[in-house]
Amino acid sequence: MRNWILVLGSLLVLVGCGGEGGDSGDGFDIGGDAGGDGAAVYSSKCAPCHGANGEGRTGPRLVGNVPGFSGSELTNFVTNGVVTNGIRTMPAFSSSLSEEEIDAVVQFLLNEFG
Ligand code: HEC
Repeated sequence: MRNWILVLGSLLVLVGCGGEGGDSGDGFDIGGDAGGDGAAVYSSKCAPCHGANGEGRTGPRLVGNVPGFSGSELTNFVTNGVVTNGIRTMPAFSSSLSEEEIDAVVQFLLNEFG
């Protein structure tokens, strides 16, 4: 299961790199090894609280709990959402993750747990 997630993450990175030439790509200078890989960001930053498979630990269960946003709603969820700003006991990630990483992890959530 874990391997499968990593493989999927790698594919997403490949697709992402090919498609978005306009992005500056400056996300990679942020500390940590995650880059724009949503699965890797999730497993290093989110899984300790939300579980490796989104089953929940100190943080709530995410499986089936992430709304199926699309388009501008997704952008809004990223820029104004819990991942960027935090919520109550969940920390904000706006300073520890790049925009690309936040984007990638939100997309990962929507794909995996939405
Ligand atoms: C330190 C523990 C912790 C970490 C790390 C953490 N979370 Fe959370 N998360 C929480 C808690 C606690 C809540 C519930 C906050 C509340 O509503 O009181 C939450 C809520 C959420 C929600 C909203 C769930 C809902 O039902 O509304 C989402 C989505 C979410 N987290 C995603 C993430 C993502 C993505 C990451 C990694 C970038 C992450 N979390 C990292 C503890 C954490």
